Amino acid sequence: VRFRDAVTVADVERIARRRIPRVIYDTLAGGAGDEVSLRANRAAFERIIFRPRALGHVALPDLTTAVLGDQVSMPVLLAPTGAGRVVSGGAELAVARAARRAGTIYMQSSVTGFALEDVARAGSGGPLWFQLYLPAEREGLADLIARVAEAGYTALAITVDTPVFGNRDRDRRNRILGSTIRPRFLLQGATHPRWAVEFVRGNVLPRTSAGGAQRMSPRQTAATIMASARPVGWDDVRAVRDLWQGPLLIKGVMRPDECAGLVELGVDGIVVSNHGGRQLDGVAATVDVLPSVVDAVDGRAEVFVDGGFRRGTDVVKALALGARAVFVGRPYLYGLAAAGQSGVEVVLEMFRAEVAQTMALVGAARVSDIDRSLVTTSAGR
Ligand SMILES: Cc1cc2nc3c(=O)[nH]c(=O)nc-3n(C[C@H](O)[C@H](O)[C@H](O)COP(=O)(O)O)c2cc1C
Repeated sequence: VRFRDAVTVADVERIARRRIPRVIYDTLAGGAGDEVSLRANRAAFERIIFRPRALGHVALPDLTTAVLGDQVSMPVLLAPTGAGRVVSGGAELAVARAARRAGTIYMQSSVTGFALEDVARAGSGGPLWFQLYLPAEREGLADLIARVAEAGYTALAITVDTPVFGNRDRDRRNRILGSTIRPRFLLQGATHPRWAVEFVRGNVLPRTSAGGAQRMSPRQTAATIMASARPVGWDDVRAVRDLWQGPLLIKGVMRPDECAGLVELGVDGIVVSNHGGRQLDGVAATVDVLPSVVDAVDGRAEVFVDGGFRRGTDVVKALALGARAVFVGRPYLYGLAAAGQSGVEVVLEMFRAEVAQTMALVGAARVSDIDRSLVTTSAGR
């Protein structure tokens, strides 16, 4: 398939896989351990069955919605991924621009090839969200949060599912995060010249932006990834809540019994996530956990979900189960790998078209019409 002939996210993934070296593809696509949870995220969608309203009388549904007070053009947001620089030179800047053009939100990762101020500038004009890994020293926290606020980010998420780094067999085999470059990697670079030119240009010529913020090389990014895993406790959430004025999300919740405590601490949003199957292998599919979290939160916070969303039907199923919106990670990274910023835009438009079509087919004119009656897990009822 050529990129302009791609019609699904799966097509874009196939193109991305050819465009980038295998070790880079592995680091995006891979999960932890035996990848049971990675597969579970996708398989769970097949057990959720639609009960469409045939007489809904909907042809042109309205996809707009509000997420923690920010208006978005559709309920599909971009998850934080700390890998942009290894995929394409434009990396986070390209993703932020694509999100703004699509009228949706990119949650910028703490692990980034560009300074958070530069990404904020690229995405300015639309809402900006930031994902926080706690800095190694507690003293650094206030400074970092002040920087995030100053740059114009409106919401902040603490990722809580990385007390230690996940067991990524593919990356360990490829030694992707090691300090020495393996011959296999050089060979793969040589056979992917278009990717290699961008990679080398970005690596050896770090630009300094107008604000004086230094862009990181892939190796510095790798070091930051390795240093980012840190346990988060209730005290940390309390400390961040005290320092951050705007909406606060917790990303990586998989148990309903942790929700009440978070809501009491003043958390505004919960992201049901297993880190795309990259952290603890053997944990449940996120859409299977979603309904119990929605019930536990009971309207006191907005509930989001990510993990394995590749189709508009997946998105509508999660909304029916009570999610406010969903996040996608790998899909836009594949778009970025296949065609840079426009590749990300194409992937987002694929989601938009499929969500619109699904809403029409289930008889939902607005996002708020998507309710639990539209899905079941037992066929025939
Ligand atoms: C390459 C890659 C890098 C990621 N980096 C981060 C990160 O820096 N911070 C974070 O909270 N989650 C990170 N995630 C997890 C995503 O935010 C998200 O939870 C996951 O990708 C969703 O699953 P999906 O890729 O199947 O859509 C990363 C995921 C991938 C694939």
